[in-house]
Amino acid sequence: MSTLFDDRTEELIQEYRQRFEESPLFISRGPGRVNLIGEHTDYNDGFVLPVALKRDVRIVLRPRSDRQVRVYSVEFGESGSFDLDAVRFNPDRLWLNYIQGMAQSLEEEGIRLVGIDAVVSGNVPRGSGLSSSAALEIASAHAFLIAAGQNGVLSGPRIAQLAQRAENQFVGVNCGIMDQFISELGRANHALLIDCRSLEYRLVSMPEEAALVIGNTRASRSLASSAYNERRAECEQGVKLLQTALPDIRALRDVTSEQLEAHRALLPQNIYQRCRHVVSENERVLQCVDAFECNDLDEVGRLMDASHKSLRDDYLVSSVALDAMVAAMRGAEGCYGARLTGAGFGGCAVALVKPGHEQAVADAIFEHYPKATNIWPEVYMTKAADGASAEAI
Ligand code: GLA
Repeated sequence: MSTLFDDRTEELIQEYRQRFEESPLFISRGPGRVNLIGEHTDYNDGFVLPVALKRDVRIVLRPRSDRQVRVYSVEFGESGSFDLDAVRFNPDRLWLNYIQGMAQSLEEEGIRLVGIDAVVSGNVPRGSGLSSSAALEIASAHAFLIAAGQNGVLSGPRIAQLAQRAENQFVGVNCGIMDQFISELGRANHALLIDCRSLEYRLVSMPEEAALVIGNTRASRSLASSAYNERRAECEQGVKLLQTALPDIRALRDVTSEQLEAHRALLPQNIYQRCRHVVSENERVLQCVDAFECNDLDEVGRLMDASHKSLRDDYLVSSVALDAMVAAMRGAEGCYGARLTGAGFGGCAVALVKPGHEQAVADAIFEHYPKATNIWPEVYMTKAADGASAEAI
């Protein structure tokens, strides 16, 4: 019996039976994520500290004897299909492209897949900075692997890399590795320190006294993708300019705050500020791990606050809505610290909160955030959950 056996899975199975007139044999799951600290560091070879969420994408499925893939998406109320031998971008079914891209990425790795009949459903809010895309990619990876009898042949970090490749090359979004990595490798009650250069990782136990509250600004993220690519280019420019004095650096990961200050004159002001964010954020991630390990949650909160300020003032990826959300959270009793999470420009903020004070933080959000923005937010209270899984039903 699946450990994922709850009402949501039961509904998914019913849906499958109605669509395909038989029962699914397997279920796979990929969770969303919230990043505690380490923003815009992954594509600079740096450090991140995310947690996997209970909110996830689930796929129930049956292998087929041919190479056809037929999928029904509950949230979109749409069916889509493709042939594993003729995978091409589908402009009419954007959600299907994550599944197609994942299939292609696995086959390029030498894994021979079989077709599947599948129903997919998720409760990670879409377009909110909680990585619904990575959740779908990772759930798809495990759906294909278990259907092909290939569960366990790839390491977790490798699956994350293949999912990132699907998103970069097939879907066409130039993201880093963080979202896919934590969706694959997260663990209940733990955050994951990921070294995005070596892909080494370490579980960081979340103290009992730490709860998370996520505030969804529900503000449009229309600038997000163009600005994301612009920031990546600015970081690369920073590295090139700094290399004239520091020839051994390969990425901003290799630069210390002292080096950055010493060579500040090499950089235009805007590039200097982008670099200052990344360099200081990497340092904050490692300090934050130490603080968690010493159970010093006031220090974790201070680092989260500093991260938000740096994203707002140096990296310029906050927004009026995100600043209002963070201010509402910080004004509540029991909040250690709060910051925007994910790429920015809208989406969500995360607060570290004393257990028992989650509702007070939620109340403060509902009281203050709509006044500042005219937008009604959503609030999720959450704990760190397990990463991806796949099993027989
Ligand atoms: C998005 C990307 C990640 C990461 C964050 C910013 O979520 O998908 O790879 O770059 O933005 O930290």
